Amino acid sequence: MERKGVFIAFEGCEGVGKSTQMRLLSEYLSARGVAHTVTREPGGGEISEAIRKIILDGKFTAMTDECEALLYAAARVQHLADTVLPALARGETVLCDRYIFSSFAYQGGGRGLSRKFLRDINRYAEENCMPDITLFLDLPPVRAFERKHGADENDRIEQAGAAFHQKVYETYRQLLEEYPGKLVAVDCSGTKFETQEKIRALLRAKGLIG
Ligand code: TYD
Repeated sequence: MERKGVFIAFEGCEGVGKSTQMRLLSEYLSARGVAHTVTREPGGGEISEAIRKIILDGKFTAMTDECEALLYAAARVQHLADTVLPALARGETVLCDRYIFSSFAYQGGGRGLSRKFLRDINRYAEENCMPDITLFLDLPPVRAFERKHGADENDRIEQAGAAFHQKVYETYRQLLEEYPGKLVAVDCSGTKFETQEKIRALLRAKGLIG
């Protein structure tokens, strides 16, 4: 499928305000008449949303780390086929809540799986559809959980504990150095409107939005 649109992914720890920032950016694109699709991982379509329910279900405490990583990778492939690649072929801008760097940060940094294993199982995504840019909404997890008043007790990943989320954050910081220009940090310590202005300025400077 030919890729004509722009692919922008959003990353960050829990509660940094990704969905709010994506909504504000979507409003901006709508006001300018830019055709776009807003989607999320794991999920987006019927099959990947079904996989999402299995992954996040709080009762599956016995799920192995490898199984978790493979389910995220499976949901990703299906999501690409159902949602992302068709939208890019139509020339739309795609805003995606989480993508491959979430697997590197959560299953790599958080769970301790090797980067080689994660790259192997995510090869299809890496070879066929890397984002034009991934924005890392930068706020340490302690601050983010304060903002959202604690972790969701029904969410297996949110329940993983403070040390896990700190490792996830530190892995994102390393990834910023490994993928300069591809993974870019946006400081989120200000108001949501200040953060949104930073996001728009960055995307404009890269020629990804008007
Ligand atoms: P979600 O409720 O969407 O969290 P958030 O609003 O913080 O994005 O659930 C997605 C969860 O899945 C989140 O805890 C991060 C995790 N995740 C991974 O561990 N690996 C992945 O590859 C992806 C895409 C998400």
